Amino acid sequence: MRKPLLAGNWKMNKTIDESVALVKELAEKVKGVDDRDILVCPTYPALKPVADAIAGTNINLGAQNIFWEEKGAFTGEVTAPMIRNLGVEYSIIGHTERRKYFGETDEIANLKIKSCLKNDLLPIYCIGESKEERENGSTKKVVTSQIIEGLEGIPKLKLEKVSIVYDPIWAVGTDVLPTSDEMMGIRILIKKILAEKYGIKAAEKVKILYGGSVKAKNVRQICVEPGMDGVLVGRESLIPSELVKIAEIIDAN
Ligand code: PGA
Repeated sequence: MRKPLLAGNWKMNKTIDESVALVKELAEKVKGVDDRDILVCPTYPALKPVADAIAGTNINLGAQNIFWEEKGAFTGEVTAPMIRNLGVEYSIIGHTERRKYFGETDEIANLKIKSCLKNDLLPIYCIGESKEERENGSTKKVVTSQIIEGLEGIPKLKLEKVSIVYDPIWAVGTDVLPTSDEMMGIRILIKKILAEKYGIKAAEKVKILYGGSVKAKNVRQICVEPGMDGVLVGRESLIPSELVKIAEIIDAN
């Protein structure tokens, strides 16, 4: 059985010292857990100190973003090789907040996914519709084009390195949740789009996660029951005891 992936997106929270303290507390609590992949995504400045703090533990490390070019005059940006060089294994790509505040598009996400794959980083690609798109019934259309555009040119052989997070804009940070049935429908839709493009076998290997207001008290309904392969957790990932509770529940998947 594939291990569920539990990714904590710390967003723009925690100083270096706070990040190290947080991950140490988490590492202590998840000692010995090896049937789930537990991942933390701190801010850039905290990546190296957190990488050092998790050496020898079962916690994995991810970045929240990368830039797609590998070097040059791009003030303020950070590349996949730089991130990889720190011992980071994953990067979130195309997160809702990157799309909303920094104008990221599916084309940009595609360039970033390609750069991740070229540089041995595992991309966690976020997709999902807005409240308006949900209400006017275009969820299917939006999700389909986000997958097609975001994975454009990604070869079948590399597909299994990509995880896809259904991270709907209307659910992130809001405590509004999809139902189990809606989640099941989305999971099937994503698998179908992938199967049409890459074949069933390749599609089966892709982890499909859910993100948006995940808590211990709702993770069974939105992750376990609909058969998701894991979760992307924002706010609750800053509280180790909550993240551990979530990890215990997704273990049942
Ligand atoms: P949240 O964030 O858990 O705070 O809603 C989710 C996300 O970043 O995808």
